[in-house]
Amino acid sequence: MVKSLYIHIPFCQRICPYCTFARQLYCQKKVDKYITLIKEMIDKKYKNNKFQTIYIGGGTPNCLTINQLIKLLSCLTPKLLPKYEFTIECNPEFVTEQQVKILKKYKINRVSLGIQTLNKKILKSIKRLHNKKNIQKAIDLFRKFKINNISCDLIYGFKQQSIPIIKKDLDFLFKNKINHISYYCLEIKPKSIFSQRNYKLDENKIEKQLKFIIKYLKQNKFNRYEVSNWCKRNKNQSHHNVLVWKTNEWVGIGWAAHGFEKNYYYHYEGDILKWKLVRKKLSKKELYQQVLIMGLRLKEGLNLNNKLVSKSYNFFKKELDSSPLFVKNKKAIKCRNINLLNCLLEKII
Ligand SMILES: C[S@@+](CC[C@H](N)C(=O)[O-])C[C@H]1O[C@@H](n2cnc3c(N)ncnc32)[C@H](O)[C@@H]1O
Ligand code: SF4
Repeated sequence: MVKSLYIHIPFCQRICPYCTFARQLYCQKKVDKYITLIKEMIDKKYKNNKFQTIYIGGGTPNCLTINQLIKLLSCLTPKLLPKYEFTIECNPEFVTEQQVKILKKYKINRVSLGIQTLNKKILKSIKRLHNKKNIQKAIDLFRKFKINNISCDLIYGFKQQSIPIIKKDLDFLFKNKINHISYYCLEIKPKSIFSQRNYKLDENKIEKQLKFIIKYLKQNKFNRYEVSNWCKRNKNQSHHNVLVWKTNEWVGIGWAAHGFEKNYYYHYEGDILKWKLVRKKLSKKELYQQVLIMGLRLKEGLNLNNKLVSKSYNFFKKELDSSPLFVKNKKAIKCRNINLLNCLLEKII
């Protein structure tokens, strides 16, 4: 039985220059229709399913109006199993008391807050609409309504960023007792506004920043459980993402959303209000590659008791066993140093 559901909300109030995720500018009428489509699909295809984890990602899911949020959440909450993780991605500037009340009412128990940095100059240069004050307000509101599982997304590698700025950002999170941090390296993907402006990354600086982030988070008792993810205790991990990385099946719904069911990866293509499912028929090699690319991101690696994992390992046994970065014991396979994961993956790609 599929355990996880991902819902994609591809609407934002403003487009960030580094972002190439599937998103468009918010439009009330479009969003109304879009939510109806999601609701119809759940009722038609997943009527009898219940999920352990539901993740509403974006885009900016919390830039929806209260009525739109209620319409969306009210068709998802009944889909939760008794023990569940229900996450929504939020941008700090849109968090209000009324909104958090609704999130709580509809059983959201985890939020992923897109902070990126607290530094004013960088926020301005990346066209973000929030500041330290509304980040603090958002965190306080989640706490007030007992949504204590708060994760924060940050990015390193911006031009104006320095280690003292990163330290200041992390100190703010520690002071606020945040228990999960996703710290991503800035990626300049083709078609992003930054790429069109020929934004260049300073690899040397980035390497030093990552070293500092790893050291400082460790000093502050954060465990790095995945390439870009740290948490205080295992129970604070993103269970949704861990299930996905461990190649459990998940349902994906929404324009440009991805899913994995019955050994098929799929995604939705077409117009934002007329998406159609495209099933990717992967060859055995492609499927096993995908399993390893996703799972070896995890520090603990993948469990060999899982049939798909053991098949994937056996398929690439020669390539993997020949790498000093590859570790295999009776139970699991993993990468010895996840900073060098790409060097290991090169062997199988
Ligand atoms: C797709 S966004 C959605 C959440 C929300 N709209 C936001 O911007 O915070 C999820 C996270 O991906 C990260 N992200 C987006 N574009 C990125 C890029 N080019 N490089 C690194 N991280 C990126 C950001 O940290 C962001 O919070
Ligand atoms: S980073 Fe987030 S807010 Fe910015 S455009 Fe992408 S999805 Fe929207």
